[in-house]
Amino acid sequence: MNVKIKGTGSAVPKKCVTNDDLSMLMDTSDEWIRSRTGIESRHLAVEETTTSLATEAAKRALADAGITADELDLIIAATVTPDRFLPNLACEVQREIGAQHAVAFDINAACSGFLFGLGTAAMYLTNGVYQNALVIGAETLSKIMDWNDRSTCVLFGDGAGAAVVSAEQEKGGILSMVQGSDGARGMVLNCDNRPVNNPYIKNDTALAYVSMDGQAVYKFAVRTVPESIEAAVKKAGLTIEDIDLFVLHQANYRIIESVAKRLHQPMEKFPTNLQEFGNISAASVPILLDNVKNRGMIRTGSRIVLAGFGAGLTWGAMVLEW
Ligand code: COA
Repeated sequence: MNVKIKGTGSAVPKKCVTNDDLSMLMDTSDEWIRSRTGIESRHLAVEETTTSLATEAAKRALADAGITADELDLIIAATVTPDRFLPNLACEVQREIGAQHAVAFDINAACSGFLFGLGTAAMYLTNGVYQNALVIGAETLSKIMDWNDRSTCVLFGDGAGAAVVSAEQEKGGILSMVQGSDGARGMVLNCDNRPVNNPYIKNDTALAYVSMDGQAVYKFAVRTVPESIEAAVKKAGLTIEDIDLFVLHQANYRIIESVAKRLHQPMEKFPTNLQEFGNISAASVPILLDNVKNRGMIRTGSRIVLAGFGAGLTWGAMVLEW
């Protein structure tokens, strides 16, 4: 069985916050943010939640795929910012869309989450366990940002993207996948959860927020992303020149430029949307995939690389034939 993306969808909060808007709240500037990252604005949740964004993206992906929620066998949601510890985000979306026959669970692999979710769904589909899966990447990162830490909060945004994937006889679909993790270097990008707290130990620690060694993450990304893409392309039996589009995690324009340079590929093959949305962790790749599809940049037979990287550390690259 081959595994094909049958439909995509995305949703972002209504409120768009520009770099100039942020410069009224903290000591930063449009020039600083834009020149170091390429980011011009981000959308932040005010009325929305991770569940409402994920649900909207899921409904759009189902409509695009032309299947009903009833036909879903599996829902995997990738997120680091679910609305609740329990129930998980995938079950919340299941309830909202009425996917009564689906099995639903979450994956936390930060900015690689959508890739890991897609890879997990592919295992079920290739092996004939399930027919149709919905994979979602959804975040409201703004709630885990320290809005007094200008070195992190300006980089991130909120939103959700989703893809319906199905098992098909037809050739193409997912051709290869490479994944990796390095927990030993994990603390360069972290956010603590609640501390242990029970009748035997009292912990009144304040809520924790995202903390990052930006330069360490930058160095990790510019080395690991091209390496993982090269490995995935080789595994698919293709060369880098055979790839039409590289849909990368949208963390920083300079990182994407560096990856393009290392792969000796023109920037035209690397679509971006970080200018408008910033970094939305697990949601970045599926939102960009949906955007490029809507821009008419994907045709039947297009060869596409999806690549994610981030906290964990985690990374993943996948080659698809549309
Ligand atoms: N506005 C203005 N000044 C800022 C600022 C902001 N938003 N954030 C930090 N600064 C200041 C710093 O305080 C520092 O000032 P100092 O030299 O007086 O101490 C100065 O700018 C330089 O900071 P530095 O951290 O050296 O900048 P940088 O060139 O490394 O760029 C990042 C910082 C975060 C943009 C860059 O390291 C990066 O993009 N890293 C990757 C992060 C990432 O993508 N993470 C997500 C991965 S999924």
